[in-house]
Amino acid sequence: MSKEKRQLILNVFLLRYGHHPSGWLHPVWKEDGRPDLNWWVRAAQIAEAAKFHTFFVADFIGRSSKAAEQVDTPNNFHFEPFTLLSAIATQTKHIGLVATVNTNFSEPYNLARQFTSLDHLSGGRAGWNIVSSFNPHTVKNFGISNTRGHEERYERASEYVQLAKALWDSWDDDAFDHPDREAGVFYKPQSGHPVDYQGKFFQSQGLLDFPRPIQGYPVFVQAGNSETGREFAARLAEMTYSSATSLQVAKDYYADVKRRLAKYGRDEDQLKITPGLNVVVADTDQEAQDKFGELQALVDFSKVEFGGFDLSGYDLDGPLPDLPYNPGENGRGRFQQQLELARRENLSIRQLVLKFQVARGHVQAIGSVKTVADLIEEWFVEKGADGFNVVPPYSIKGLEDFTRLVVPELQRRGIFRTEYEGNTFRENLGLKRPINPNTAV
Ligand SMILES: Cc1cc2nc3c(=O)[nH]c(=O)nc-3n(C[C@H](O)[C@H](O)[C@H](O)COP(=O)(O)O)c2cc1C
Repeated sequence: MSKEKRQLILNVFLLRYGHHPSGWLHPVWKEDGRPDLNWWVRAAQIAEAAKFHTFFVADFIGRSSKAAEQVDTPNNFHFEPFTLLSAIATQTKHIGLVATVNTNFSEPYNLARQFTSLDHLSGGRAGWNIVSSFNPHTVKNFGISNTRGHEERYERASEYVQLAKALWDSWDDDAFDHPDREAGVFYKPQSGHPVDYQGKFFQSQGLLDFPRPIQGYPVFVQAGNSETGREFAARLAEMTYSSATSLQVAKDYYADVKRRLAKYGRDEDQLKITPGLNVVVADTDQEAQDKFGELQALVDFSKVEFGGFDLSGYDLDGPLPDLPYNPGENGRGRFQQQLELARRENLSIRQLVLKFQVARGHVQAIGSVKTVADLIEEWFVEKGADGFNVVPPYSIKGLEDFTRLVVPELQRRGIFRTEYEGNTFRENLGLKRPINPNTAV
C-alpha cells in the first residue's frame, strides 16, 4: 500500500452519559437513565453515515453491592453486548460491530456460537474485544474464587481464543451451501471436523452447532497495555484500543507492538493501532475550550479516587501520596501510565483529576476543526496511530459534533474514506479472511 493511500481508521466508543464524569450533569444531557435501544441505534447510524469502521460496545460486567449507595454517580449501564449489537445489526449495513467479552466469566463454546450468530446476522461485521479484567465485585457476582493473577488470566485468555477458533473451524466454510436433495445429502460429506481440545483451563469435544462465521473469525480486538497484554496483542489481535496521552507515548507503543509482530510471522498491516481520542470540537479554539470548561466546572471534588484508592482525606492541591499498588491487579499498564505522568509533571491531586481522570488516559483534542484534524493527521502520519477510537466526553452530541465537523475535514485532507470499500468488517479494515486450517491443503 503506498503511503498516500494509507487511510485512517475511525471507531467510536460511547458511554451513554459521556466519558467525562460530569457528562450527565451538563445541560446537553436531556435524557433519563433507562435503557433505550433507539438511542444506541441512532448513535450507530450516525457513525455509519460518517463511514466509521467500528461501533464498539464496552462491557464492564457486574456491579458491587455498593453501587446501590452510589446514587450521585452515573451508572453507565450497557445493554449486554450481543443482544444490543444484534438489534443494531438489523438497523445498519456497513459498520463493524465489536462486542466486549471477558474470558473470565463465560465459556468458549457459548462465545463461539454467539459470535458466529452475530457475524451471520450482520452479514460479516462482528468483532470481539477480548478482555480479561478481573474486578473483585465481578468475581463476587459470579461466585468464583478470587485467585486468578494477571499472567494466569492472559494464559487463560489465550487458551480461550484457541478453543474458540477450533470451534469456528469445526465446519468447512461451504459445509451447508449445497444440499443435494436427490442424493438426500444435506451437508457436504467430511465437512465437519470435531474438536478434541484438552487444555489447562478448558476441555471441549465435538462440533459447533452453527456454521463458520462469514468472516472466518470475528475481528480480534484487544485493549491491554501491560507487557503481557502487548505480547498477546502482537500474537493474535487485529486491532488494539490503546491509550496514550502524548504523541511520544503513542509512537513508543506503536513501534513496540508492531515490532513484536514479526516473531509471530505477522506483518505490520495485520494489526491496526487505534488509541482513544477525547474530542471537544467547536467553530473556534476558544469556543471548544469554553465548552470543555463547562464540563470541568461540574467535576465533584468531594470524593476523589485514583486507581481504586480513596484520596478524599488528602490535600487536593498537594502531591499524589505514595500508593501501595499491587502490580498483579487490573489495568496496571494504564495505572502506571497515569502515575508516571503525575510524577513527571508534578501534578497535584486536583490537576491529576482534571487532566487525566477526566480524559480516562486518552489524548485530548480540544479546539477548532483545524486543531483537532491537525492532531489526528500528525499522529497518523508520525505513526503514533493507524486511526482512533473516538471517546466523546459528552455522549451522542460529542459524536455528532465530530462527524459533522471533523470527518469532512479529514476527507478533504484525503486521509479518510468517503465510502465503505467492502462488505465485511474485515474487508473495510483491509484485513485478510482467515482460512480454515481444516480445509487448507
Ligand atoms: C479503550 C479501552 C477499552 C476497554 N474496554 C474494556 C471493557 O469494555 N471491559 C473490560 O473489562 N476492560 C476493558 N478495558 C481494559 C483492558 O481490556 C484490559 O483488561 C486492562 O487494560 C488490563 O490489561 P493490562 O493489564 O494488560 O493493561 C479497556 C481498555 C481500553 C484502553
